[in-house]
Amino acid sequence: MKIVIANESHFKYAQDICDTIAESAKVRGTGIAKRTPEYIQQRLRNGNAVIALEGDKFAGFCYIEVFGNKKFVANSGLIVHPDYRNQGLAKKIKKTIFDLSRSKFPDAKIFGITTGLAVMKMNYELGYKPVTFSELTDDDEFWKGCQTCKNFDILTRTERKMCLCTGMLYDPVTVEKQPKTEKLNGKAFARLKSIKESLFLKKKDK
Ligand SMILES: CC(C)(COP(=O)(O)OP(=O)(O)OC[C@H]1O[C@@H](n2cnc3c(N)ncnc32)[C@H](O)[C@@H]1OP(=O)(O)O)[C@@H](O)C(=O)NCCC(=O)NCCS
Repeated sequence: MKIVIANESHFKYAQDICDTIAESAKVRGTGIAKRTPEYIQQRLRNGNAVIALEGDKFAGFCYIEVFGNKKFVANSGLIVHPDYRNQGLAKKIKKTIFDLSRSKFPDAKIFGITTGLAVMKMNYELGYKPVTFSELTDDDEFWKGCQTCKNFDILTRTERKMCLCTGMLYDPVTVEKQPKTEKLNGKAFARLKSIKESLFLKKKDK
């Protein structure tokens, strides 16, 4: 398995990446920001993406997005092809894209929003902390990405204050001062997610 910084030679995988993201969202039944092959190709072109390949088979992907005048970057679109899951590949991709983000944008805060416990665990191990949405970027370009998520009405209803996703933030300044020691409490997050689902989704059905 090779994990490399992507470039134009990987354009041929863009459709496969989009299809795998869309299929996985369907299976999980959760919201997700949909991406077009053109959008993915733009990330491949500017050296802001990481791709995992076994031979010439697509195995995994993640990309960097830049917001708020480079004050914030997000590591988005993490996907591992179902054939390669549960072998630690996502963890390696996450670490690679995180290191790339730190070297290209050393002063930026790195953030993400997610409903996935796997992603929360990985982020936490990298030094991210759970935060309210008000601590994330206020760049409309980022929040526009949520428009294609099936839970977008919740985000609108709460005036961007909360949604089913949890916000997580890596702040290079605080992390250097207070290195993380403890592990993420996965049970607490699973409970929080189920509370949010029962609150927001019930209201939505009414
Ligand atoms: C989520 C995903 C990226 C994980 O990929 P993977 O290569 O199987 O993950 P890894 O094997 O590297 O596991 C990383 C950690 O997450 C945990 N994990 C993996 N899948 C999990 C799941 N479905 N639920 C809870 N934890 C999970 C692993 O146990 C591991 O934790 P550990 O280090 O404490 O053991 C993959 O399942 C996927 O692409 N899913 C669909 C897309 C998606 O959900 N993307 C995230 C958007 S929010």
